[in-house]
Amino acid sequence: MPGETWERLREAAVEAMGHAYAPYSDYSVGVAGLTDDGRVVVGCNVENASYGLTLCAECAMVSNLHLGGGGKLTHVYCVNASGEPIMPCGRCRQLLWEHGSPATELMTDEGVLTMAQVLPKSWGFE
Ligand code: THU
Repeated sequence: MPGETWERLREAAVEAMGHAYAPYSDYSVGVAGLTDDGRVVVGCNVENASYGLTLCAECAMVSNLHLGGGGKLTHVYCVNASGEPIMPCGRCRQLLWEHGSPATELMTDEGVLTMAQVLPKSWGFE
């Protein structure tokens, strides 16, 4: 994917990060994904006083994916409050796997990696 498209995703993720509700960890996260029909979907993390109920940014993005018409994620960019790429947590890698594909590309601090690289031997029904 061209660099300018990654930059568009990064900008959307940073904008989404600005809406995060993270008073407990003080760690805001934003994420943007490109869908296989060209839409950009975003999400931010939303924490809760009962810490375990925290919603990761990727959860909101996947909900927005389906609200906006469904499809699959082809590219994903997740950022911290400094706008730097961060790795999705293990649970969210499983979410991205289900709503993307093994070839879905993820921007990381080591450059672009595929879902197959960041979630080898994933769980899933045939
Ligand atoms: N967080 C995400 O939103 N996505 C991830 O993939 C990792 C963690 C959030 C959850 C919590 O609100 C904060 O980051 C600190 O863990």
